Amino acid sequence: MPDGKHLKPLTDKMFRFNIPLIEGVDYKMLTTRPRGTNDILPGEVEKWHYLEKVCRRVCSDFGYQEIRTPIFEHTELFLRGVGETTDIVEKEMYSFYDRGERSITLRPEGTASTVRAFLENKLYAEPQPTKLYYIGPMFRYDRPQAGRYRQFHQFGIEVFGSNHPSVDAEVIGLACTVLEKLQLTGLKVHINTVGCPQCRPRHLKALVDYFSDKKDKLCKTCQERLNKNPLRILDCKSDICRELAKDAPTTRSSACPSCEVHFTKVLKYLDALGIEYVVDPRLVRGLDYYTHTAFEILVEGIGAQSAICGGGRYDGLIEQCGGKPTPGIGFAMGMERLLLTLETKGIDLSQLLTHPDVYIAAIGEKPQEEAFKLAMELRRKGISTEKDYLDKSLKAQLKAADRLGVKYTLILGDEELKARKIVVKEMAKSEQTEIPIDDIINYLERGLKTND
Ligand code: HAM
Repeated sequence: MPDGKHLKPLTDKMFRFNIPLIEGVDYKMLTTRPRGTNDILPGEVEKWHYLEKVCRRVCSDFGYQEIRTPIFEHTELFLRGVGETTDIVEKEMYSFYDRGERSITLRPEGTASTVRAFLENKLYAEPQPTKLYYIGPMFRYDRPQAGRYRQFHQFGIEVFGSNHPSVDAEVIGLACTVLEKLQLTGLKVHINTVGCPQCRPRHLKALVDYFSDKKDKLCKTCQERLNKNPLRILDCKSDICRELAKDAPTTRSSACPSCEVHFTKVLKYLDALGIEYVVDPRLVRGLDYYTHTAFEILVEGIGAQSAICGGGRYDGLIEQCGGKPTPGIGFAMGMERLLLTLETKGIDLSQLLTHPDVYIAAIGEKPQEEAFKLAMELRRKGISTEKDYLDKSLKAQLKAADRLGVKYTLILGDEELKARKIVVKEMAKSEQTEIPIDDIINYLERGLKTND
């Protein structure tokens, strides 16, 4: 292996931006992906296309439009949007200074960015509510394990501009429809009300009272949280804090009448949709912006990371980010967790693999040339075509055609070329016939149409 000395020396400027100044290069770094990231390889990517297609289709049926926001944003957006005392902000953000010395963060979630885009692009001036969806990578410096990665993908939706409880039920209904379309039935929705600015102070006080005499046993971060934001203790990942939080006062026990009315109506709408749920008074979410409804869809059998979907209402977030008071609600699903769930439930998406329609096996220089032109022509006509690029023997080319699972193999040698004919093998029937080269496109088009 080369020693890497031919690589451009790293400059002072790079050193300033924390890129380590190294003489050689550890080639392991060039052939190993960063921890917690994944390559999505051919064979796997088709499943992603399918998932994305289902999500897009359901969103379109529900009247949601796609939004694509930048992968990185100003760090301030997440400090304000997600909350300074959340695990995400305290421990998990990929933040860095860019070359203009601005603090930038790779987005850890999609809600804050969607709110920012709603405000910046004045989407509030359009007829309300605004119903948006997104699919894309998110980044959290988390401890990687099955279903938990540092780069992962979310499909999420956000609705701005309505606080009607039917919207809460519709949002949950959309998530359930996506799961149903993927044949993932029987997953339970866990739902809770997490309070609003009216009742939250009462709940916070109850939490401070409850945890005060347990303070010394809490983890260091939670000891600080007790003063800053005791609600966050409830979703601490440390086993000790979890155990201590088991009997903590629930949000529902402090809920004000308006929270209770809203929650009861949401449950009524869910009943009307026939959606099964579990009211889970211990459910809290790891982000600060939630008010009223919070929910998660949990699944067994994919390891410790059982939440496939999480979301809720955040009626104060848009105002907190500088907009006029505007209610909001949404959810995000972890795409990797969705795929893991499909796998553990034995739902096979491998039939989604696409196969080329045609393989052209050619032997000899002239036939290769003709095959090259024909392949291009077929592809332009929308017939997916594969050919040999390595001067393989006829036997090896036929084997390749078989492995690719094509519908037709065309065979072209000097003799066929002289006669302006091509041998066509229909793989399903093992039949072989000779067709004039000039008729081959029509022949294949007809055949592929009847096979459709
Ligand atoms: P979240 O609960 O942090 O909520 O994430 C939503 C989903 O993303 C989780 O249920 C899980 O499936 C997936 N997820 C989260 N972290 C990871 C990870 N490290 N690796 C793999 N999958 C992960 C939010 O992000 C909110 N923005 C959801 C929302 C939208 N609430 C309202 N609108």
